[in-house]
Amino acid sequence: MRIDVFFTPLGLNPGDLTGRGVVVVDVLRASTTVITALANGAKAIIPAATAEEAVRLASNLEKDGVVLAGERKSLKIEGFALGNSPREMTAAAVGGKTIVLATTNGTPALVAAQGGDPVLVGAPANFRALAARARAVLEQRGELVVLCAGRDKQFAVEDGYTAGRLIKAVRRGVKRLELNDAARAAIALTDAVATWTEALEGSEAARQLAEADLAEDVRFAAKPDRFTVVPSYADRRIT
Ligand code: MLT
Repeated sequence: MRIDVFFTPLGLNPGDLTGRGVVVVDVLRASTTVITALANGAKAIIPAATAEEAVRLASNLEKDGVVLAGERKSLKIEGFALGNSPREMTAAAVGGKTIVLATTNGTPALVAAQGGDPVLVGAPANFRALAARARAVLEQRGELVVLCAGRDKQFAVEDGYTAGRLIKAVRRGVKRLELNDAARAAIALTDAVATWTEALEGSEAARQLAEADLAEDVRFAAKPDRFTVVPSYADRRIT
């Protein structure tokens, strides 16, 4: 069996993920936001690579059922109804709606994972349920890819740490497991960092969110197993 980690989507070539089981991780904040929105009754999330693409995708959908959401530099995009805070994804705001979401790193990573099968969305917020699903994919397929969104084309500690915790959770009892170098580094990170809170709060993303007065989102994202939903991305929709 084999697990490959990518710390950013930059190392991917077209077709690299076709037909492979993939977990996309952007803990601060896109994957936490997607999980929360679906747990609170959103019908689907459509990830967009850019704000412009989000507007175009939304214009093809029925106005009543669609909500534009997303951030630039952590703040809500002008003219959009919601930002990228998981705390905004309340049942009242997203229940029954299709959210078209554009974020700096997370939604481009999701778009890059297209062609994977399945493409799951993971974070501490759904960690236990995610690990069970990912383990089943590893057993069925014999391999798994963890694609971290990273931050501004660089490594992001909260995503790498989550990848390491996920590998440790899914590899129990597996006799022979091959890992790429990034996967080995992700596991090593879990020896250096003790808790979700330590991983998230020490991150550059957390600093940027605190500067934008959004430190509460970091605390929200650091609490594991809030939800049991494991979002799955297929045909350009996350459900
Ligand atoms: C992203 O996709 O880049 C993030 O989720 C950034 C953020 O929400 O602050």
